[in-house]
Amino acid sequence: MKHLSAVTIAVIASLHFFTISFAGEHSPRHEPKASGDIKLYGGLKALLQEEMALIEKSMSRLVREIASGNWEKIASIARNIEESFIIKKQLSKSQKEELGSKLPELFKDIDGEFHKAAGMLAKVADKRHAELVTFYFYKLSDSCVRCHSKYAKVRFPNFDKKTGGHNNSH
Ligand code: HEC
Repeated sequence: MKHLSAVTIAVIASLHFFTISFAGEHSPRHEPKASGDIKLYGGLKALLQEEMALIEKSMSRLVREIASGNWEKIASIARNIEESFIIKKQLSKSQKEELGSKLPELFKDIDGEFHKAAGMLAKVADKRHAELVTFYFYKLSDSCVRCHSKYAKVRFPNFDKKTGGHNNSH
């Protein structure tokens, strides 16, 4: 049942455009300004941004529905996030498989956790379990931060230890 999300596919589809450096694994010859950032071009970048805008909108809708205890709405928004894949529809199965094999494990992990958290949020909303609903909402926000602080430091410079105010030490 595993599927690749739009974020994952946007990134893997453009893997050859960017350099990713993992702490401790190797040191790049030229340290880019925000090393580890992904660089997306053209349609893929637009699609990723579109996807992100939808996710952001869903998150703010979730806040409102959680605060109101609208369990069905929470569950349906969460399921939409879980299943969100704009770009996926435009790639063939073999393309997905090929690209999936090139994806860095860490990115896959964060993306996987993100979608898992959305699925869990839907499940606990079905059960009307308020405390777990807020817990999985937290898990969702946590994955935004974890992914952005690794892969989107140009877009979100506050996560860059060199240029930003906040830092995200692990
Ligand atoms: C697995 C990685 C990943 C996860 C998880 C993730 N994002 Fe992103 N997001 C990115 C990347 C990469 C970019 C930078 C795209 C770019 O370069 O413009 C981005 C950009 C964005 C943008 C800016 C889009 C624009 O038009 O410039 C928003 C808003 C956003 N993310 C919201 C979120 C929210 C909210 C969450 C969590 C609920 C989230 N993202 C989770 C990878 C992720």
